[in-house]
Amino acid sequence: MTIERAGVIGCGLMGSGIAEVLARAGLSVVVRDISDEAVAAGRKRIEKSFAKGVERGKMTEQERDEALGRLTFTTELSAMADRQLVIEAASENEDIKKKIFAELDAIVTDEQAILASNTSSMPIIRFAQATSRPERVLGLHFFNPAPVQPLVEIISSVVTAPEVADQIETFSTQVLGKTPIRSDDRPGFIVNALLIPFLFSAIRMLESGHASKEDIDTGMVNGCAHPMGPIKLADMVGLDTCLFVGQSIYDETGDPAAKPPVLLSRMVDGGLLGAKTGKGFYDW
Ligand code: 3HC
Repeated sequence: MTIERAGVIGCGLMGSGIAEVLARAGLSVVVRDISDEAVAAGRKRIEKSFAKGVERGKMTEQERDEALGRLTFTTELSAMADRQLVIEAASENEDIKKKIFAELDAIVTDEQAILASNTSSMPIIRFAQATSRPERVLGLHFFNPAPVQPLVEIISSVVTAPEVADQIETFSTQVLGKTPIRSDDRPGFIVNALLIPFLFSAIRMLESGHASKEDIDTGMVNGCAHPMGPIKLADMVGLDTCLFVGQSIYDETGDPAAKPPVLLSRMVDGGLLGAKTGKGFYDW
């Protein structure tokens, strides 16, 4: 099966980036979110990114227009009926995600369709079990900003059919132009299992008064050639996302390095979520 028709559930930071990647790769993409406002914000985010792509010489104006023409925005989940690949990128809430998978299972007609989750850390098996086709469910995890970061993680649950993961690996490489890596269905998969303890160490360093956020970030940028420092990166990922991911790794493993720092929890409670709300550790 050649995947030509894709769907994305949720057009927040990650969903809109994933939709953009798929549309730029030539697929027809239906993007669904729950409200007209959310859909409008997602479309705006994609248009802004396309504009940056044109400005940076990554795409021509014609390519931008063609990619935009391949995108359809909706609030109706039923629009996923004819999709061959649906990537769920809703908020990191297990009950919401399970409900979406159960609904998709009833809506998506093609038995060969693949249902994927972009979850950052939740067990894929729980979403698979919400469907009647658990062997066709897997994790396909993109990195922020999705149009720029080359990596995708492919996560097989204990019941994912090997040919489904193989097909997504070929698709990721040949159609999306991404670099896939494979992970077991373990908390944080590969990247977040390493990244979250690092980001939390940096936040604890700041919290304890050990160093300023600027010096922590400059240290890792200029000392270790990271493209951005950990405090700024936490802001970019979203402090709420960092909190959810850390909590979910901590709950399952008890790893103290993944325990969310108190400062992070307080900032999330205070609505300081980073770049997406304009204020986090930095002003954006
Ligand atoms: N479309 C196409 N290309 C674009 C683009 C767009 N909208 N925006 C930028 N680019 C390209 C630029 O042209 C440039 O390409 P070049 O290197 O070939 O010239 C490249 O992307 C970098 O863009 P900029 O020059 O605008 O930006 P910076 O150099 O300041 O880099 C950054 C910005 C890419 C965000 C970089 O700082 C970075 O990589 N930071 C780290 C990001 C990271 O670690 N992400 C992972 C987070 S973890 C995650 O997402 C997992 C989740 O589960 C928590």
